[in-house]
Amino acid sequence: MNELFRILVLPGDGIGPEVMEQAVRVLKQVSVQAGAHLELEYALAGGCAIDAHGTPLLDETMERARTSHAVLFGSVGGPKWEGLGFDLRPEIAILRLRKELNLFANLRPATLFAPLIEASTLKPEVIRGLDLMIVRECAGGLYFGEPRGIETLADGSKRGYNTETYSTEEIERVGRVAFTLARSRRNEVCSVEKANVTESGLVWREVMTELHKREFADVKLRHMYADNCAMQLVRAPKQFDVIVTGNMFGDILSDLASMLTGSLGMLPSATIGATKTAQSHDQTRFNPAVYEPIHGSAPDIAGKGIANPMAQILSVAMMLRLSLGMPKEAALVEQACIEALADGARTPDLGGNFTTSQVGDAVLTRLEQLAVVST
Ligand code: NAD
Ligand code: IPM
Ligand code: MN
Repeated sequence: MNELFRILVLPGDGIGPEVMEQAVRVLKQVSVQAGAHLELEYALAGGCAIDAHGTPLLDETMERARTSHAVLFGSVGGPKWEGLGFDLRPEIAILRLRKELNLFANLRPATLFAPLIEASTLKPEVIRGLDLMIVRECAGGLYFGEPRGIETLADGSKRGYNTETYSTEEIERVGRVAFTLARSRRNEVCSVEKANVTESGLVWREVMTELHKREFADVKLRHMYADNCAMQLVRAPKQFDVIVTGNMFGDILSDLASMLTGSLGMLPSATIGATKTAQSHDQTRFNPAVYEPIHGSAPDIAGKGIANPMAQILSVAMMLRLSLGMPKEAALVEQACIEALADGARTPDLGGNFTTSQVGDAVLTRLEQLAVVST
């Protein structure tokens, strides 16, 4: 392999830079082992970009994202910037990347790694072997619907409002990602909404039903209300293969699902656009996608060196697989993470006492050993 990949690295705020440092060490080592050439470009995003440039994401950074092979994103936000208006907040950095790169499907795999079976707050028999994929629509819904705003009423009190909208096209494109992924897994999709109370949910259910009938009748489809889904995820999470849902429900249900795997610090994600599924990465891999842990900047532990870097490292694995055409290396990174966890390399969120960089060290050690075995 003699390719040059340009990766835009946006560490962000809080624990973002701490976990990113470890993920980049892993990325560099795996690319050396594979003989791939990486050019890593760093830029500010989120609160640190507001402090330096007065905006959460410079247009210039957006342009660099467009011309990269992939974007590796850390996390943004924190109490320092909480008072700002919505168009100025750190979180705009990630929302803008998703929207302007036309990335509408956020893949959030909740996989229980065997060494962590005792780390979850759920009973071992409930989670043993868990392997579920949440496909979260991430370019529409309540996050972007218009009208939105805050108005002051005649009596001086306020009214905040947002709009949940989903069109046929928006539902079909994320539905296709979910059905296609299911075909390479256990062939089951559970579509989640609130069709019992919202028009957007009703349209979502109808469009998913039609799409299934027309293009994916070989895949098993069922529908579930989001409140029931939250309950079922805790009661019997192994009933799910692929869950497809809208932006807000996907955000909430994926944080919930992360705890099935031991910690929010374990869940990576890939935010992808048209036809960029596990099967088709080869044709489209030069469309930039964003790889990001699902957690935030964790202000309560930032600066202590104890953040779990696994979600960020596993996001690198997703990038290797989906954007860089390096599935073998992706699997090596995942295996190295599992082995490091089995060795006891765990931060406090997993009940361990390793620091962030010690976990990085352990993953790198395992990666080196695996490389020797696989060559
Ligand atoms: P959070 O995800 O930052 O933290 C929630 C809890 O989980 C905290 O107790 C935190 O310490 C813990 N946690 C999160 N990641 C961890 C890790 N890797 N290792 C160990 N523990 C971890 O959510 P929050 O506190 O609600 O939000 C903090 C800020 O992050 C807010 O400004 C929010 O908007 C932002 N945020 C950003 C992103 C992103 O950039 N992608 C995602 C979610 C939240
Ligand atoms: C996530 C985060 C973001 C979201 C925020 C930071 C905008 O919570 O990626 O899960 O809500 O999508
Ligand atoms: Mn979230």
